[in-house]
Amino acid sequence: MGSHVSDRRSGRVIAIDGPAASGKSSVARELARWLGLTYVNSGGFYRAITWYLLRRDIPPDENELISAALEEAALTCIVRDSESRILVDGMDPANHLRDDRVNETVSRVSRLAQVRQIVSQKLHDCADAHNVVIEGRDIGSVVFPDTPYKFYIHASPEVRLKRRAAQGERDEIAMRDHDDVSRAVSPLVIALDAYVIDTSNVTIEQVVNEILTHLQVKGLPGGDVHITNSRAR
Ligand code: CDP
Repeated sequence: MGSHVSDRRSGRVIAIDGPAASGKSSVARELARWLGLTYVNSGGFYRAITWYLLRRDIPPDENELISAALEEAALTCIVRDSESRILVDGMDPANHLRDDRVNETVSRVSRLAQVRQIVSQKLHDCADAHNVVIEGRDIGSVVFPDTPYKFYIHASPEVRLKRRAAQGERDEIAMRDHDDVSRAVSPLVIALDAYVIDTSNVTIEQVVNEILTHLQVKGLPGGDVHITNSRAR
């Protein structure tokens, strides 16, 4: 999987991959703001699909039922306030994406090749229309292997557990880590050419600064994208 889209041309893509509660969402969102790019949370697509299947009482191991349901469901990505939002059959599941049931089930749904293909296609459609910062698990390794801007964000398991607990979520991140790393299709890996940052003992701002410095070394921003000293909000 992945090769079906990897040769398509896209806009500028900054890929931020890493495990749950590593800080990648905060970093990716902040980076997008600094650079004036669109922030895309690819996990939101997997969560929206999971929410939809749960709503229809379709278990995550019923591949045929899932296939049929996904053929019927219209998954739409819209950009509002420079952030992606996902609609399923016109419904906006934003308030349910981090429900306990979605947390428990999402990694089992996201191991399905058909689901990954649908999300990959949507991410490419989005990158065709916007310059984007996309966070996820396989963005630099599989979905946009040709982007030169790849980051892998991680933190110690203890720190990640504390962060998730502080967010007030019930989320078995060790179980999701295991499922995400061990699945056959697009597992969580560090892309060979990714710049790796451990966020255990640094602030979000420090991580964003490190990324901005690295991007400048790599020749970005250029053209229409400018780093400024004040935030454009
Ligand atoms: O926010 P958090 O890191 O907890 O998770 P997320 O980014 O919302 O992703 C939820 C789940 O979706 C992950 O545990 C993966 O199973 C799946 N996912 C994926 O397989 N590939 C991606 N690019 C993004 C998410």
